[in-house]
Amino acid sequence: MYVCVCKAVSDKTIRQKVGEGLGSMRELKQCLGVGSQCGKCTQTAQQVLNQSLQDLYGSNRIPCHLVDERPAA
Ligand code: FES
Repeated sequence: MYVCVCKAVSDKTIRQKVGEGLGSMRELKQCLGVGSQCGKCTQTAQQVLNQSLQDLYGSNRIPCHLVDERPAA
């Protein structure tokens, strides 16, 4: 499904980018443009990002360089 309609970014694309090392909304915005136009996708994109990180690394195994980028729970 499309998460960001303005930039035509799907949840699959976000998951792929997280698998390639992206770990924050700032990085998603810089790389894919997510949230850079109308901003309506930001909350859903954050949820997909969080779930992708959880799936990849588990709650206790997120790489240190990503810890500071994660939103407060
Ligand atoms: Fe993502 Fe508009 S839907 S910026």
